Amino acid sequence: MKTINFDFSKSAHMIPLHSLHQLQPHIDLAHKMLHEKKGPGNDFLGWLDLPNRINQEEWSQIKKAAETIKKQSEVLVVVGIGGSYLGARAVLDLLQLNRLFPDNRKEKEDIQVIFAGHQMDSDYLYTLSEWLKDKDFSINVISKSGTTTEPAIAFRILRKLMESKYGQEESRNRIFVTTDAQKGALKKLADEKGYESFVIPDDVGGRYSVLTPVGMIPVAASGIDIDEILKGAQKAVVDLQDSDMTKNAAYQYAAYRSLLYQQGKEVEVLASFDPAFQYLCEWWKQLFGESEGKDGRGIFPASVQYTTDLHSMGQYVQDGRRMIFETVLKFEECNSEIYVPDTGENEDGLDYLKNKDVAMINQKALEGTVMAHIDGGVPVGILSIPEKNAYWVGYLLYFFQKSCAISGYVMGVNPFDQPGVEAYKRNMFALLEKPGTASMQQELEAKWKK
Ligand code: PA5
Repeated sequence: MKTINFDFSKSAHMIPLHSLHQLQPHIDLAHKMLHEKKGPGNDFLGWLDLPNRINQEEWSQIKKAAETIKKQSEVLVVVGIGGSYLGARAVLDLLQLNRLFPDNRKEKEDIQVIFAGHQMDSDYLYTLSEWLKDKDFSINVISKSGTTTEPAIAFRILRKLMESKYGQEESRNRIFVTTDAQKGALKKLADEKGYESFVIPDDVGGRYSVLTPVGMIPVAASGIDIDEILKGAQKAVVDLQDSDMTKNAAYQYAAYRSLLYQQGKEVEVLASFDPAFQYLCEWWKQLFGESEGKDGRGIFPASVQYTTDLHSMGQYVQDGRRMIFETVLKFEECNSEIYVPDTGENEDGLDYLKNKDVAMINQKALEGTVMAHIDGGVPVGILSIPEKNAYWVGYLLYFFQKSCAISGYVMGVNPFDQPGVEAYKRNMFALLEKPGTASMQQELEAKWKK
């Protein structure tokens, strides 16, 4: 039976099995806290069984909105930041290789999905606005709080552009809002303007929201089968329910990283040999970084894309400070075949590889890298995903969410809040003199008092 497999056997001398199994009582406790909803952050556990209680009416509404977007637009601009954009971006990059070559869309009717509001760079927003002027576009603005500055600014600029291009009436049909059911400035605006709205459930935090309309509208609009994603996630819910880490790969991964953290490995590098994983790594970094990085604790999540980064970060991983462990992501099967051609001359000395599949060569690079890094004192675990398709991507997303929750509880933190995110906002609002917020002077005085 195909399944996601976590294998750290090549690093077994650095991770004694008996030490790992000593963590089982901690895993049991974390499992109990999670499933009995008794741990910190227990009002944010809606993601846990979400795949099995999908509201069919809402699911159909998502698909209908996606069809409308596809019919009326060549571009969908997704406006959001953090958990409100990374999940969709990860899935799109994993499953749509043509995203890497934007002019190479498979079908004429495929839409191009562009992201905005995930930073505030004026060059980006200006260039995007100019580019959109002669495109037919729709907007999906996503913000749970409905007040986040980055997407709010981007949305205001893009809404203005849209209204001057299509008028208020037509813009109403081109703007899709994903936000809280009741509160926030975005909800108020959507109600006033009559935009079609989708709800982010109260009990699902941003970084755990990819399987809600947050992730599923952009993914469906780009032509990916969201039913398959859901089926994969549903299977993961069933497969990853056992508290026994020998029967639960997500828990084994959580225990493995907890053990390494206890041994002083404070940085986890998520590596892949396939550039399609780049944004999955970004999504994973947000998931684990925001969930675990608090109270002076947490593994610092980093990522690399090999073999590209073997020519930059590879040196550090091989030879730098020994605070790193590495997790390699790979698909068991590639979707395409391409061979090194036989030119008949060996002018470049590459004949030892002639007629060899590039996927096989890449796999050898992976094996060689894993061996080298283990020799260099870096524990390496390999997470293998059977196939590169929507089903297994759905499975993988849930796999990481579950392992993150367990790992956070084992670490002794609340994996579902993000109090540290507010600090920069307070200073920025003070500097911008936002009404109703403390002035910079008041902020500084408060700091001095401490
Ligand atoms: O995981 C989280 O909660 C955050 O990363 C949020 O997703 C991010 O800050 C965006 O927030 P919002 O959706 O409220 O605009």
